[in-house]
Amino acid sequence: MDSKIVAPSLLAADFANLQRDIEMVNQSDADWFHLDIMDGVFVPNISFGMPVVKAMAKHAEKPLDVHLMIIDPDRYVKTFAELGAAVLSVHYEASPHLHRTLQAIKAENMKAGVAINPHTAVHLLEDTIQDIDLVCMMSVNPGFGGQSFIENTYKKVSDLKNIIEKRNAKTLIEIDGGVNADNISKLADAGADVFVAGSFVFKSESPTETIKTLKQKVA
Ligand code: DX5
Ligand code: ZN
Repeated sequence: MDSKIVAPSLLAADFANLQRDIEMVNQSDADWFHLDIMDGVFVPNISFGMPVVKAMAKHAEKPLDVHLMIIDPDRYVKTFAELGAAVLSVHYEASPHLHRTLQAIKAENMKAGVAINPHTAVHLLEDTIQDIDLVCMMSVNPGFGGQSFIENTYKKVSDLKNIIEKRNAKTLIEIDGGVNADNISKLADAGADVFVAGSFVFKSESPTETIKTLKQKVA
């Protein structure tokens, strides 16, 4: 069985001690770094931009999983490729020409991801699923860390898993928002492959141990 991926979200890191927190993730059992880019338009918050991503990339020794919560994401595909993103996810709700956007991401040698808001039905991805490397399923409304997990997500994960299998696709299912040690195993059982965790990791007493626990829960 493929091993499950844990991706700490740097949105919950201490921005005054970013290098320290990145080194912690480097040394931990985590697999990827999750980077949340917000524009204050698509979501009601602004996170961090290119100079900060560049500084993060300089220290990060694991793949960068970039989640764009911005309108018109096509404008920045090349920029994030240059910054070293391994996975680039755009929002379904912000991408009127999703198929074209996915091709543009792949042309830059990144994995192409599609993020969906809690209200977006998984069946809308049926006709593009073979072109999608990863679906970032939002289990909170995007824009902020530290929100509570939306329970309807389990059902969406199994429905999406069915679509992926029916279409013979290799798409990974990523869960983003409110992931913790209580819901991660059930999400894995439903078919999820990648787990983003922000607050649960960085607000814990020992982030390294917390990452280890999350990894063990889905091993
Ligand atoms: C929310 C972001 C998430 C967030 C997760 O808009 O996309 O990646 O950082 O944070 P937690 O784990 O605290 O819900
Ligand atoms: Zn995210």
